[in-house]
Amino acid sequence: MSKKVTVIGAGNVGATVANVLAGKNIVGDIVLLDIKPGLAEGKALDIWESSHINYFDTRVHGYTDDYSKTANSDVVVITSGLPRKPGMSRDDLIGTNAKIVKSVAEKAYEYSPDAIYIVVSNPLDVMTYTAYLTTGLPRERVFGMAGVLDTGRFEAFIAEALHVSPKDVTALLMGGHGDTMVPLPRYTTVSGIPLTELLDADTIQRLVERTQKGGGEIVKLLGTSAWYAPGAAVAQMVEAVIVDSHRVMPVCVMLDGEYGLKDVALGVPVKLGQNGVEQIIEVDLNDEEKKLLHRSYEHVREVMQVLDDLKLF
Ligand code: NAI
Ligand code: 2OP
Repeated sequence: MSKKVTVIGAGNVGATVANVLAGKNIVGDIVLLDIKPGLAEGKALDIWESSHINYFDTRVHGYTDDYSKTANSDVVVITSGLPRKPGMSRDDLIGTNAKIVKSVAEKAYEYSPDAIYIVVSNPLDVMTYTAYLTTGLPRERVFGMAGVLDTGRFEAFIAEALHVSPKDVTALLMGGHGDTMVPLPRYTTVSGIPLTELLDADTIQRLVERTQKGGGEIVKLLGTSAWYAPGAAVAQMVEAVIVDSHRVMPVCVMLDGEYGLKDVALGVPVKLGQNGVEQIIEVDLNDEEKKLLHRSYEHVREVMQVLDDLKLF
């Protein structure tokens, strides 16, 4: 049976998800949805017009706020919401984006109760929690994208520093999607060679800090946030679900005691397949890594408190 993916929000990230996913030629239909009249229709048509050139069969449709067209989706991606502007943190977006994510998740769930939900809107960890509360789905079926992007940034910076192919760099990163994210050099390799044998501690620390501020680096350059790497990262997660690949990647998911943490949505390594999160993988962390992960947890908990204070639930 051919698969159907809905992407809510046809802005920079949403349209890129649709474009990259169409190019993978693994789903029958992609539905792009936006509240801005004509935007989803126009972007969907533009992507569809590239089908022969990019050699895919996936039909790409665009609609303005008509959730009936999203019915029976296998995966729903939520990118609707404001991006940040220079000087803003991701957390500054919470008031506006929580209301948007709640309302779109409610409407999408009405038409696709069996879908897997992937949240992208910021602040990511708390928006994932918002969609989890709104849909009432088990945590395996509603989770967020941030770690694949943040890890991708770390991998790109390492490849640049070592003059090696990024294809050979495999990193691990955990925690929230913010400046407290926790890149893990001890679990990062270049074709199996530990990073710690290839770069000195100061250089690694410099790359870690650049990764932690990677989103802000793009905002400063563009005046809005990134979309090519985020869109590709989401498409990779959708692919893992659609083709049931059991790939292992960092995903933001509600924790229930893993890493000693509970009642928080946080990035951890998971196995992804057709049922969503199939397994949360717990790796051994040393005292320093545990301290950093806990600091990230505390930060996300503070933003969750801001959500609680909005009394949306
Ligand atoms: P954008 O402004 O280009 O697109 C957002 C779209 O959402 C707009 O087209 C807008 O009309 C639409 N929208 C707003 N309210 C809506 C509603 N109620 N229903 C349907 N559509 C609605 O923003 P961009 O750059 O695409 O970013 C989207 C979100 O993703 C932002 O919150 C941004 O911070 C976040 N983001 C998260 C990343 C991550 O790693 N998790 C990476 C990059 C962006
Ligand atoms: C990023 O990291 C803004 O969350 C977005 O690029």
